Amino acid sequence: MSVKKVAVLVSGGGTNLQALIDAANAGKLPNARLSLVLSSREDAYALERARGAGIPVAVVKRTDSREDYSDRIEAVLRANGIDLIVLAGFMHILSGKLIREYENRIINVHPALIPSFCGEGFFGLRVHEAALRKGVKVTGATVHFVNEIADGGPIILQKAVAVEEGDTPETLQKRVMVEAEWKILPEALDLVSRDLVTVADGKTVIKK
Ligand code: GAR
Repeated sequence: MSVKKVAVLVSGGGTNLQALIDAANAGKLPNARLSLVLSSREDAYALERARGAGIPVAVVKRTDSREDYSDRIEAVLRANGIDLIVLAGFMHILSGKLIREYENRIINVHPALIPSFCGEGFFGLRVHEAALRKGVKVTGATVHFVNEIADGGPIILQKAVAVEEGDTPETLQKRVMVEAEWKILPEALDLVSRDLVTVADGKTVIKK
């Protein structure tokens, strides 16, 4: 099985990217090579993390329609021979065309237990604000394949995290990252890059 070239798409701090870099350095992603970090913002701290790890970077800002933006991203992915895409805090929705061309080859990390607190408009701190507003006692994170429904693709891994008395959106976001996102994102990428995840009837089957 040939090593998969992975692009990580980011828009912000890049702590999930860092989790992937750390996993790669620890030998936990034997069939994935982090080959490109593509950011929608030139001031994203994630770019510093990528440069520090010696990963090539590209900045592609959204200045046009979702379709045109996705076409410009796709051109960069193709030029770099990318096999798999990881959305790690990427704050834009990709076009149906790009999603279809990379069917079951794009994964996303979402900071809640899908189908709770997800879909268009639920990103970053807003997700945790909504969870606290509802008063849930358990939240968590999900890694899923990306399809044309926002946060609606087949679920690969999920991990629950307790909500604690006195939590703010910021403290809850941090706990969800530390206890869930930074663990299940590298794990899911490892499984997908080793072709251990298949999709049937809109659900994943994981070969162990
Ligand atoms: C993460 O919590 C990620 O799950 C979330 O944005 C944060 C990015 O942090 N993504 C979404 O909300 C997508 N719907 P990071 O840049 O430090 O990885």
